[in-house]
Amino acid sequence: MAFPKHSILQALSVLLLAWVLVRCQALVKPEEEEEEEPTKEVDVAIAVTKSEPIKCPPDCSCTAEGVIDCAGVDLTEFPADLSDKTRQLSLQNNKIEEITVEHISHLHQLETFNLQNNWLTTDGLEDEGFEMLEHLAYLYLANNKLTYAPKVLPPSLVSADFAANQLTRIYPYTFGHKPKLRSVYLHNNKLTDAGLPDNMFNASDNLEILTMSSNFLRVVPKNLPSTLYRLHLKNNKLEKIPAGAFDNLSNLRELYLQNNLLSNEGMNNETFSHLSSLECLDLSNNNLSVVPKGLPRNLVLLHMEKNSIQSIPGDALTSVRNLEYLLLHNNKLRSRSIHPAAFQGLKKLHTLHMYNNLLERVPRGLPRRAKTLMLLHNSISEIGRNDLALLYTLTELNLSYNKLTSSKMHREAFRKLRVLKTLDLSGNGLYTLPLGLPRSLQVLEVKNNQLNSIPDGALTGMEKLQKLILSDNQLKLNSIYQGAWMELSALTVSGWQRYESDVLELWSTTLDLSGNQLSHIPSDLPESLEYLYLQSNRISSVPASAFEGTPNIKGIFLR
Ligand SMILES: *[C@@H]1O[C@H](CO)[C@@H](O)[C@H](O)[C@H]1NC(C)=O
Ligand SMILES: *[C@@H]1O[C@H](CO)[C@@H](O)[C@H](O)[C@H]1NC(C)=O
Ligand SMILES: *[C@@H]1O[C@H](CO)[C@@H](O)[C@H](O)[C@H]1NC(C)=O
Ligand SMILES: *[C@@H]1O[C@H](CO)[C@@H](O)[C@H](O)[C@H]1NC(C)=O
Ligand SMILES: *[C@@H]1O[C@H](CO)[C@@H](O)[C@H](O)[C@H]1NC(C)=O
Repeated sequence: MAFPKHSILQALSVLLLAWVLVRCQALVKPEEEEEEEPTKEVDVAIAVTKSEPIKCPPDCSCTAEGVIDCAGVDLTEFPADLSDKTRQLSLQNNKIEEITVEHISHLHQLETFNLQNNWLTTDGLEDEGFEMLEHLAYLYLANNKLTYAPKVLPPSLVSADFAANQLTRIYPYTFGHKPKLRSVYLHNNKLTDAGLPDNMFNASDNLEILTMSSNFLRVVPKNLPSTLYRLHLKNNKLEKIPAGAFDNLSNLRELYLQNNLLSNEGMNNETFSHLSSLECLDLSNNNLSVVPKGLPRNLVLLHMEKNSIQSIPGDALTSVRNLEYLLLHNNKLRSRSIHPAAFQGLKKLHTLHMYNNLLERVPRGLPRRAKTLMLLHNSISEIGRNDLALLYTLTELNLSYNKLTSSKMHREAFRKLRVLKTLDLSGNGLYTLPLGLPRSLQVLEVKNNQLNSIPDGALTGMEKLQKLILSDNQLKLNSIYQGAWMELSALTVSGWQRYESDVLELWSTTLDLSGNQLSHIPSDLPESLEYLYLQSNRISSVPASAFEGTPNIKGIFLR
């Protein structure tokens, strides 16, 4: 079978989305604590010069090219008499407590030095030794017990990893005056503002990645190099961002400030405005009460969930023309405090999360190209005729757990949603399945309402519906119009449509009527049905012929 072009395109766009997610990290699932920049084993290309094999410590493996690998061999002491030809030394995952100048000062060729996950303390590390390693490029000291960083590291340094120690102090020449330095990892330490030198990266003008998450910083460090590409400062105690702190960071693409104590008072309309390359900004889990003004124009992804945001001014977002994802869930937004022009001109914004707020209506002026709109867990009690009328491109609308009632839902409210695929109205107060739902729906969930009727025609024309969840309502067989389920038989899944659903969405054709008041198995089930849920009804007998019309059935739940 030739794959239809359409499906391949869709598959590609899924891949592309995945790429965006990875690039900006932990997009829609901020709960999962992403492991931040796990230290990579960098394979340093080593020029092959034929020479005698070097002397190899017991239990280790060595090559003629100067690679000594003693990783995880239970060393408690630094191996003695290492060859001064050593270029790569792997000592990670041991129990080394002490390194003296004498141990390392002769290793003039050393380029990669891996000491991760040992028992090194500041007292046990005679750090003067590092100064002499004039080729040292990669230094891995994560997962030790250091309380102070080495005072001086050599100018050849390219990458340094000190994550997960107990560092309280960094010195001017720890990371300063390192023209080749590109990445520094300092997350999970005990750094305070006072423990940092004034100009920590003085004359280190190539730094691209800096992680200082999970420390005790209250102020964003000053004088960061303008080459910085990614900056992690989450899980600190940041209260304010001093004026100008980010002014020079015109190359910064990703800025992570979540889980701090930032409030609107701690920033102003110029705080972020010079970050002209910034694409990803995470301000979630702070203490913002308003969407800040002066956001940088090239943002693609903006996390502001879990603050106390009460309002969105008219001019806060309109300049952010490239915004694609806006995450505002778990705030205190009310519909009337979202300026009607707040989303104007955001032509690329396709994903908007506003769940767990205090919305009493669908906000006015929603972004016109939105594809995914998450409005669940608010207090929306009505949907007017035109509330959704401009959302032509919407494919997913989640209105579950609001306060919708059948009488306050305009029967034409959904008329313009011609490409809507997924609609969730669960957990509301509907007593009848709404008429006029989009024919494009593939998934319709209306569980946990008070549905006691499916009026004539409510499911007419729903040719694409594959999953219909009506569980936990008060449906009786005679309150469902004759032939309702047969309408769904149009979902005779065939050809490429089937291919698409299998591959991309993994839905089966499902009808869930559990937790209702049905007295019999419905007689007119669609032929294509695969899963039927009927548990917790009042069904007492199952006639032999009940499933004759449903040859594809894979699961029936009747408990
Ligand atoms: C940065 O380094 C230069 C020397 O290269 C020195 O003159 C200057 O005082 C240093 N600045 C700070 C703030 O430490
Ligand atoms: C920005 O860069 C300029 C010029 O290099 C420098 O004078 C200024 O102090 C820098 N500002 C910050 C906040 O780092
Ligand atoms: C949050 O910000 C408000 C002012 O907007 C302030 O009164 C309050 O103390 C802040 N809370 C925390 C935990 O910083
Ligand atoms: C910030 O606000 C001031 C005064 O309200 C204004 O002059 C300035 O242009 C604003 N800057 C930005 C980047 O919006
Ligand atoms: C609506 O959102 C809730 C919470 O994320 C989710 O559990 C539910 O599956 C969504 N509905 C649909 C139909 O995707």
